[in-house]
Amino acid sequence: MRLPQLGDLDPLSRTALEAARRAAAPAPIYAVGGYVRDLLLGRRNVDIDLVVEDDAIAVAGRLAHALKAVVTPHPRFGTAHLRLPDGRRLDLATARSERYPHAAALPEVQPAPLLADLLRRDFSINAMAARIDRHRFGPLIDSLGGLQDLERGRIRALHEQSFIDDPTRLFRTARFEGRYRFIIARSTLRLMKAAVKGGAIGHLAGSRIFRELHLVAQELSAPRIIWRLRNLGVLTAVHPTLTLPAAAFGLLERVRQVLSQAPSLPLPENAAEGEALLLGMLYLLHPKTVITVLKRLTPPHRIAERLAADHKACRNAAQKLTRAVDFRQSRIARLLDPLSPEARVVLLAVLTKGSARDAVSRYVTTSWRIVPLLKGEDLHRLGLKPGPIYRRTLAALRAARLDGRLHTKEEETSFVLQRFVRGRLRH
Ligand code: CTP
Repeated sequence: MRLPQLGDLDPLSRTALEAARRAAAPAPIYAVGGYVRDLLLGRRNVDIDLVVEDDAIAVAGRLAHALKAVVTPHPRFGTAHLRLPDGRRLDLATARSERYPHAAALPEVQPAPLLADLLRRDFSINAMAARIDRHRFGPLIDSLGGLQDLERGRIRALHEQSFIDDPTRLFRTARFEGRYRFIIARSTLRLMKAAVKGGAIGHLAGSRIFRELHLVAQELSAPRIIWRLRNLGVLTAVHPTLTLPAAAFGLLERVRQVLSQAPSLPLPENAAEGEALLLGMLYLLHPKTVITVLKRLTPPHRIAERLAADHKACRNAAQKLTRAVDFRQSRIARLLDPLSPEARVVLLAVLTKGSARDAVSRYVTTSWRIVPLLKGEDLHRLGLKPGPIYRRTLAALRAARLDGRLHTKEEETSFVLQRFVRGRLRH
């Protein structure tokens, strides 16, 4: 495994790194952390992590100017975050050492040499650096055995206190294990179990846990990762009622499978994938339990409300569908139209076979976007007075189209004339 040349990177990364070198000069600037790890693995990682043994916020200001990026400084940590014009992130930090005033607290930081900065990190594979030179990376700085661990596929924590200081690392370990199919070093696993048993997660703010779970949920191997966290007792340490029954694993795998069949599914953005997975994780829990768990996790208000509502709606729809005998698309649409795209994905994963599944599958892949060919102005032309009747007429048209009773504009027109216009004239 070796680092690429700057010239082998995509043009935008290369431009950003070269501009960063110029913005920091004459101080050296280093690529670090997950960015270096993924460069060595030959894996695409568009988020760039840089460290300077200097004032990172001042360097970030110059760099933001050169790259036309938006900069957000965090003076408390001596870091700055840049959002590049194409949406990528670039993090720039002053090399620092950390002290945790108490378990799970945010650290107090102090400028320190690069080697101390590497030592404060979570795992050896995330504790390598490479100076950015003109046109190339300098030699790999690997004083903690990161490269060997990366080559062996091993996740190894750097110090005994790691998971106590920062219990979010429990989630990170499982995430990297699942993502790269690595093995957790035995000594690290022991530290993890001790931290869970010692109540480390109890000290973590809910919003930090939610953030970690949301990151987990966006991984391709989210089901395995969630399962690992469950088996390590991390989830019940988050809240004792977060006990996933054995069937939850299969459900999560099916959610992942349904998501991988997108883009034929109406998933508007990537972030929704994470929410579908979280909904899948919560699905088998009682609605009251879900509320309790969400109270502990304190997700952003909008997400909490949506998860709770989706959970309820999705379970209701599943219950109705398992008892249903009429699977016409108009009926399915009535049930599924109000559901969010994520809830539809989970519903599809819940229904493993039978007519209900076929009908939902058809709805999710095609029917949801079927609308009548006639529009409001057509109804007006046909003599209908604007009012609530429009909504009813369009709903009736859509239902008939969904059930294959109407195909053309002419058919829709005579449907409206017969059912609504002439009907109205008679009354
Ligand atoms: N880090 C750490 N402890 C944490 C979070 C981060 O030591 N709890 C360090 C690691 O060196 C990590 C780097 O900060 O590589 C950057 O963090 P982040 O961007 O969150 O993680 P990545 O390792 O880049 O992971 P991902 O690929 O998921 O973005």
